Amino acid sequence: MTDLTHQVEEVAHLIADAKRVLVFTGAGVSTESGIPDFRGTDGIWQKYDPEDFTIQKFLSDKQVRKVQWQLLSTGDLSMSKIQPNPTHFAITELENMGKLYGVVTQNVDGLHQKAGVSREKVFQLHGDLSHAVCLGCGHRYPMDMVAEWLNQGMEDPACYLCMGMLKPDAVLFGEQLPIKVLMESERRSRKCDVCVVLGSTLSVYPACLIPQYAAQAGASLVIINMGPTELDHLAHIRIEGKAGDITTKIIRRVKARLEDEHD
Ligand code: APR
Repeated sequence: MTDLTHQVEEVAHLIADAKRVLVFTGAGVSTESGIPDFRGTDGIWQKYDPEDFTIQKFLSDKQVRKVQWQLLSTGDLSMSKIQPNPTHFAITELENMGKLYGVVTQNVDGLHQKAGVSREKVFQLHGDLSHAVCLGCGHRYPMDMVAEWLNQGMEDPACYLCMGMLKPDAVLFGEQLPIKVLMESERRSRKCDVCVVLGSTLSVYPACLIPQYAAQAGASLVIINMGPTELDHLAHIRIEGKAGDITTKIIRRVKARLEDEHD
């Protein structure tokens, strides 16, 4: 039995015996859908300056807003045509088995919901790019509509209702995370029995505290990632490799175990 087969078997055993599996995802689960991650080999921060993605810059610099809107409408971060990949579907399978306590995600691409996970089980810590929000009156616009305006030449979209500044509804650096989402994610991290981290360097606060809380509360922490993460030292099981392949193998073994138990 190879090391990977053994590790897959160990994780499948943990999940088969678990009642509440909390999955924590980062940008690494969406690279197999064609969306670049941030700190991986061809990550976004190799091409763009994170300093330009702070809320302060967005509010004060029209050129920064122009670049960000362009990224969202036709650039690296346009989400309109992306589809879920095997990792997203493996997580949906967990819900179908009645094992999924929730998906806490740093991603803003909406792919967990697109793959069929119930909306009430997806906790988007960094917001999502399906909408833009008016900073003046709070009105929300579907991103497809705003992308249309951008493709027609608008560079710095404003609210139709109050002429306030529009902002993609994703959390920028320096912005407060949606507090209810963060609190519910924390509550579940302390109650889950297994926490599976997929595709994240676990390097951004406060999101990266969620798996840490789970481990501190006694959950088994499983980390599946290409490259090191900040919490590898806390992992009960640490698997190096592509999430799509590994999660598909794990789900197959969990199903086999559950069928054996029922035979
Ligand atoms: N399978 C497994 N791991 C992968 C895959 C894959 N197919 N593709 C990439 N990875 C790994 C990368 O090697 C990297 O270690 O996923 C990790 C992604 O880490 P980051 O790029 O740091 O993304 P994330 O952890 O989600 O970043 C957190 O930082 O910039 C902010 O707001 C942004 O939500 C983001 C936050």
